[in-house]
Amino acid sequence: MTLREALAHLQGKGLDRIDAQMLLLLALGRGAHERAWLMAHDGDALDASTTARLDALAQRRADGEPMAYLRGDQEFFGLTLQVDARVLVPRSDTETLVSWAIARFDHFPGPTRVLDLGTGSGAIALAIKAQRPAACVFATDASDGALCVARRNAGRLGLAVDFLPGHWIAAVPGQRFHIIASNPPYIAEGDIHLAALGHEPVSALTAGADGLDDIRHIVAHAHEALHPGGWLLLEHGHDQAPAVRELLRAAGFEQVDSRADLAGIARCSGGQWPQRR
Ligand SMILES: C[S@@+](CC[C@H](N)C(=O)[O-])C[C@H]1O[C@@H](n2cnc3c(N)ncnc32)[C@H](O)[C@@H]1O
Repeated sequence: MTLREALAHLQGKGLDRIDAQMLLLLALGRGAHERAWLMAHDGDALDASTTARLDALAQRRADGEPMAYLRGDQEFFGLTLQVDARVLVPRSDTETLVSWAIARFDHFPGPTRVLDLGTGSGAIALAIKAQRPAACVFATDASDGALCVARRNAGRLGLAVDFLPGHWIAAVPGQRFHIIASNPPYIAEGDIHLAALGHEPVSALTAGADGLDDIRHIVAHAHEALHPGGWLLLEHGHDQAPAVRELLRAAGFEQVDSRADLAGIARCSGGQWPQRR
C-alpha cells in the first residue's frame, strides 16, 4: 500500500483529511509539521511495521481517543505540553482565562502571587509563568497522576512552578495570592456531551447534578487564600456565566464580570475580593 492509498483508506473509514495525515505521520515517526513531506512522497510504499502501527492508531482514533493522547502532546498558549490519559487535554477556550489572569498583573506592586487550582497538565500555571517569569506561581491538583504530568512539563519547559497536592484551597493552607485562576470540572453528571469525552479523566469533568459543585466550593473558600484586592477567575460551561456571576456576588466579590471565548460565548467569570471587609 502507498501513502496515498493509506490516506484514502483512512478517509474511507470516516477520518477527516487532517486527522488521516496526522495518524500517518505518527505511524511514520514524523512530526505534525511534515504534511508537505507526505504529499511529496505519496507514491512511497508503507512497510509492514508502519502499516501495523497505523492500523493500531486508526483503531484508537475510531474508538474516540483524542488526537492529543495519540500524539502525546498538545499546544497551549505557545507551549507544547505533554499529555496522557491522566490529564484533561488543554483546550484553546482556556487561553481566554490565561489572558484575563495576565491582564490582572498590572494591579499589584511587587511579585504577583498566582494560584492555579486543578492544574491538570499544568497548562494555566505554566502559560502564566512563561508570560510573566517574575511571578510566584503555584498549582494544585487532587490527582497524583495529573501532578506527575504537570511537574514533568514544568521540568521540560524550564518553568519554576510549585505543584502541591490537595483538595482545592486546602492544598495551600495559610497562603495568600493576588490571582487565583481555575478551570475546574463543570459538566453536569449525566450530560450527553460526556459520551464524547470518555477517554479523559471523569474527575476532571463532572461536578454534581448541575455541574457547579466545584465552582460553588471554590467561590465559597477562595477568600481564605486571596489578598485583599485579589482576583478569582474561573472557567465554566457555555451556559453557566449568569449562575457563576451570581455565586461570586453572593460570596462578596466585587467588579464581577465575564470574558467571552473566540466564539463570543461567555466562558469565564471572575471578581475581585474587596480591599476592606
Ligand atoms: C477541567 S480539568 C482542568 C485541567 C487544566 N487546568 C486545564 O485547564 O487543562 C480540572 C482539574 O481539576 C482537578 N480536580 C478535580 N477535583 C479536584 C479537587 N477537589 N481539588 C483539586 N483539584 C481537583 C482534576 O484532577 C483536573 O486536573
